[in-house]
Amino acid sequence: MTSTIPSSTARLVLSPLSTDDIDDVFVVYGDPATWEHLPSGRHTAREQSEALARRHRQSWERAGLGPWAVRISGAGADEDLPTGTFIGAGGVSMTEGGVWNLGYRLTPRSWGRGLATELAEAAVTAAGAALPLVPVTARILSNNRASSVVAQRAGLARRWEGPTTGIGTELARWEIYADRVLTESQLEWLIARN
Ligand SMILES: CC(C)(COP(=O)(O)OP(=O)(O)OC[C@H]1O[C@@H](n2cnc3c(N)ncnc32)[C@H](O)[C@@H]1OP(=O)(O)O)[C@@H](O)C(=O)NCCC(=O)NCCS
Repeated sequence: MTSTIPSSTARLVLSPLSTDDIDDVFVVYGDPATWEHLPSGRHTAREQSEALARRHRQSWERAGLGPWAVRISGAGADEDLPTGTFIGAGGVSMTEGGVWNLGYRLTPRSWGRGLATELAEAAVTAAGAALPLVPVTARILSNNRASSVVAQRAGLARRWEGPTTGIGTELARWEIYADRVLTESQLEWLIARN
């Protein structure tokens, strides 16, 4: 791991997501409130959280950077979120398409404090330091305004919008965000994943 990868922000402690975090991840990823915009994605078995941790581990191994387990630091703590509280997971992961994917999923009791924005900004900065030529992208459902606000505050802009297919969210569309103009092949790869 290089020194350009942060292990904290003003209010958060960040550690590479690992198999030690699976029980905590399962609590957040199994909570229907964290899947309001994509109910079919909810983790209903611990194995799904295990698989997520394994996938994220691969990003750390292949690209030297991946998603973090996110906890409240002493400076970010209060009565509702004491020091060390696991609030969720997020950051960037390296995709098969050769672009970073930015993502975040936090426990509802931590929402509305700017913590996702703090996490996303740290991830975009770390991605830029690790591989400056590789774009940071995010795939967001058009009805998930909190998520798109966070992506935009982290420096991403909407590059594409199109229909969802096969995920039962006919009321929403997929949006692709990126921190720079994407090449045709990068955009094609991202659209094909939708
Ligand atoms: C998306 C998510 C990570 C945001 O976390 P958060 O810590 O509350 O985010 P922040 O506080 O940094 O910023 C969210 C901003 O969006 C705003 N927002 C929230 N809901 C909104 C809505 N429906 N419309 C417009 N803005 C909204 C908030 O008010 C806040 O802006 P503010 O700081 O001006 O008040 C969190 O809601 C979450 O985990 N959701 C479930 C998982 C998910 O959807 N992940 C993204 C998948 S693409």
